[in-house]
Amino acid sequence: MSYEIWNRRYTGSKYKLADWIFEIIDSQCSGSSFCDIFAGTGIIAKTALDRMSKVVINDFLYSNELIYKAFFMQSQYDKEKIEHYKNTFQSLQVIDLRENYVSTNFGGKFFSHNDAILIGEIRERIEKANDINDKEHSILIASLLYSIDKIANTVGHYDAYIKGHTLKDQFKFDLISPYHTESTISIYREDANILAKSLECDIVYIDPPYNSRQYSRFYHVLENIASWKKPELYGVALKPKPENMSEYCRATALDAFTALINDLKCKYILVSYNNTYASKSSSSLNKMTLENIKQVLASKGKLSCFEKSHQFFNAGKTSFSDHKEMLFLVEVNK
Ligand SMILES: C[S@@+](CC[C@H](N)C(=O)[O-])C[C@H]1O[C@@H](n2cnc3c(N)ncnc32)[C@H](O)[C@@H]1O
Repeated sequence: MSYEIWNRRYTGSKYKLADWIFEIIDSQCSGSSFCDIFAGTGIIAKTALDRMSKVVINDFLYSNELIYKAFFMQSQYDKEKIEHYKNTFQSLQVIDLRENYVSTNFGGKFFSHNDAILIGEIRERIEKANDINDKEHSILIASLLYSIDKIANTVGHYDAYIKGHTLKDQFKFDLISPYHTESTISIYREDANILAKSLECDIVYIDPPYNSRQYSRFYHVLENIASWKKPELYGVALKPKPENMSEYCRATALDAFTALINDLKCKYILVSYNNTYASKSSSSLNKMTLENIKQVLASKGKLSCFEKSHQFFNAGKTSFSDHKEMLFLVEVNK
């Protein structure tokens, strides 16, 4: 088996909405370059690759950047070598291995103890491998992250692990399948507001976080394993010191959004938004209202709004009977 880019659990993934979003783009926009500036899983950039000759993909998380390089970077890699690593990793026996950073921190919590030993061992072997190039390194790490996500003892993100049951050994290392494309793809790990200042693209797609839940905290286990700096960890959920905290999850979100929109030089801006602000839980309250967003966008050009009812991935306790997904389109003033 091998993983496609959408085979992961990710809060706010637009996998199920990608076709709808591109129906709108195809019918309303013209252009040959596209930027997915808060790319998350990267599914929107992936869909854009079939249509655009230039695609820019950006997210400020380490794990996401590695995943984009693994799937999209069009550089040489040796398939046989990658298969060989996979076979070696699949044949590892826990009895031959020692405790490691992953097993001592996450064993019996996010993973069974034996699975955690395997994960830590594989990550260390990738780190020490001296016969792999940057693309091969990214493929191996992304494959590890997807294999981890498949079995992690969570509801889909790593803000907490599920307690009160015995964890099974179920980890298996499988590979992701990289994509070939004739389009030019540029990969960034930047703050979206900084990238926006130098970006040159016809169409920019914007899908920021809208509530106080920080993605770097939600996906800290994947970030930790991707960057492999082995930091000290704190609290029940074993999180490192905060890093990559988004302005979009704070009270100042509207200022950040206004600056971003002002700085963009492009023909079309698309913004995804959903009505989770009606939720009862305070951490899922939206930091920007619909009116805030409309006002900022209308000042940039001609604004239209598209709407779709949508069953979405909800990891937490909140439930929405009338969930609507919105897509704003701005035809930017010349
Ligand atoms: C709602 S998710 C995007 C989901 C994505 N459209 C998909 O389909 O998977 C928002 C993303 O923005 C990223 N992010 C948050 N603040 C950011 C910032 N200031 N600059 C760049 N990326 C940011 C998060 O890491 C997260 O992956």
